[in-house]
Amino acid sequence: MSDRLHTLSGYLYEYQKSIAQPEEFWARIADSFYWRKRWDKVLQWNFEEPDVRWFLNGKLNLTENIFEKNLYTLGERPAIIWEPNEPTEPSRTLTYRQLFEEVCRFSHALQSKGIGKGDRVIIYMPMVPEAAVAMLACARIGAIHSVVFAGFSSTSLADRILDCKAKAIVTADGNYRGNKQVPVKAIVDEALEKTSVETVIVYRRTGQEISMVSGRDCWWHDLIQGKPSAHKAEEMDSEDMLFILYTSGSTGKPKGVVHTTGGYMVYTKYSFENVFQYTPGDVYWCTADIGWVTGHSYMVYGPLLAGATTLLFEGIPTYPHAGRFWEIIDKHKVNIFYTAPTAIRALQAFGTGPIEGHDLSSLKVLGSVGEPINEEAWHWYHTHIGKGKCPIVDTWWQTETGGILISPLAGITPTKPAYATLPLPGIQLCIVDAKGKELTGNSVEGNLCITFPWPSMIRTTYGDHERCRQTYFSTYKNKYFTGDGVKRDHDGYYRILGRVDDVINVSGHRMGTAEVENAINEHPKVIESAVVGYPHEIKGQGIYAFVICDQSTPNESSLVQEIKETVASIIGPIAKPDKIQLVPGLPKTRSGKIMRRILRKIAEGSLDAMGDTSTLLDPEVVGKIIDGRK
Ligand code: PRX
Repeated sequence: MSDRLHTLSGYLYEYQKSIAQPEEFWARIADSFYWRKRWDKVLQWNFEEPDVRWFLNGKLNLTENIFEKNLYTLGERPAIIWEPNEPTEPSRTLTYRQLFEEVCRFSHALQSKGIGKGDRVIIYMPMVPEAAVAMLACARIGAIHSVVFAGFSSTSLADRILDCKAKAIVTADGNYRGNKQVPVKAIVDEALEKTSVETVIVYRRTGQEISMVSGRDCWWHDLIQGKPSAHKAEEMDSEDMLFILYTSGSTGKPKGVVHTTGGYMVYTKYSFENVFQYTPGDVYWCTADIGWVTGHSYMVYGPLLAGATTLLFEGIPTYPHAGRFWEIIDKHKVNIFYTAPTAIRALQAFGTGPIEGHDLSSLKVLGSVGEPINEEAWHWYHTHIGKGKCPIVDTWWQTETGGILISPLAGITPTKPAYATLPLPGIQLCIVDAKGKELTGNSVEGNLCITFPWPSMIRTTYGDHERCRQTYFSTYKNKYFTGDGVKRDHDGYYRILGRVDDVINVSGHRMGTAEVENAINEHPKVIESAVVGYPHEIKGQGIYAFVICDQSTPNESSLVQEIKETVASIIGPIAKPDKIQLVPGLPKTRSGKIMRRILRKIAEGSLDAMGDTSTLLDPEVVGKIIDGRK
């Protein structure tokens, strides 16, 4: 059964109802799922602690809502279409029945290694269907998965293994990315020099030479050998943890955002069907990586709960040519396409040539996610990819929100370029000024908060509940603070303006400035650094680092290169600064606080109006940095 809305008036009516009677509203949506035992109470909450619980004492297994509930009718429908990095390698299709059997075998495999309910399993894998199989098998046996983006370094991986005290890692020998081959297992081995797990399960993807540690490492194909293709799912409580996903914040260390079972399931399916206006039989393609929240909610869980066919692509948009996306849309007759503004801008730079010769007429809906989409990219996407006939859903959400909170419903909500438009049913937004005063009415701008819980919201940060409270619930009383600036225009439409905290968004990847600074400071010649974001034509924001180095620096350009490599090895290549400027000092207040406002201005090249610099300890340093930049 689908709870899909069909008209604007239907949406407006539903929205009002969801606000007036949230519990009745969500109970109705949740009733279309299969619960082994129905909940006793829909919602219990307070934002002080925070303590948020949905569908209390409900018992279920999320994967039964993907498989058992639908197999009879959907068994032969493609669940996953996999498109490999190399166009010459055949694609693979797994029907719902085949996927179910793979998940069952791998569930047994995990259990044969002593992994069970509540254990943490790290998934560090390329974009292959087995990554989704591993996630679903964890969900089936009640293990908590934590997928780590396979582009992260061994240090980042080790930090996450340690933080969640992982019992096992599911990985692969290697990964194909464009014309590169990444030694995934070697990175895992390096991470395990600093920490340990009991079991490493290795999926063979590239066939490259790897080392296997006896007693700890085993091959995926050996482990599933002879395992039954049926499996009885573990009974979970609605509030049992489903997964942990690490994300960056204002402070140095990434935090493990925790999502639980019942609410996440209900919200991801409901939002998937409504935002994309999914109709049975549609082929849906989200280009995100499984290591990000989009890869969780709208590549695996939402689409599969809705019975959709979800396409997984292993490669990158520009390999072996800049028309690869369009070729895939044509090949698999994709109906719904969901990507990031960075990818759109990067492909826009190649012009319309690469689109020619590919039939994009199957497309019905286009989506955008991860960062603000600029008007130019919006129009290019609309005109050249959607041929002027596909609505664009600009979807705003976060790792912490679990699902899309502000977005047009495709073809229903009138769109405006660069606007995420209106909240989904159940989502109560508010805009506050810096002091926390609520700004009511239209034509206002401020910080975006949410005043009422929704089912897929963050429950805690793993192992450190106080951090969750501090980060999201303490800035403004009784409100969840998103960290984003927002404008509500004269029509009541929302436009996201970007982060107002020390988080930068590079190509849709979230990075904490402190995290990058800590990595830079690991270079032995670095004394201190300050990192800010600056506008970047393709990536949305680039990373600009101001670095004070040891005086004995003979060769600046090789030092700059070394610093970039240090960051790549500590965090991963995505965190490499785009620009590094060696400076004699940093603009600090008398209390030692770095004035980032000034550095942001310098980074973006507005070198004239610096505002008031009189409170600086050494105002002259600003002139020196500006001269250096020139
Ligand atoms: O600043 C917002 C931006 O991405 C942040 C969340 O990043 P992450 O947790 O990695 O999740 C990304 C995928 C949901 C937000 O705080 N952001 C996300 N979507 C949009 C956006 N900014 C503008 N428009 C969007 N559609």
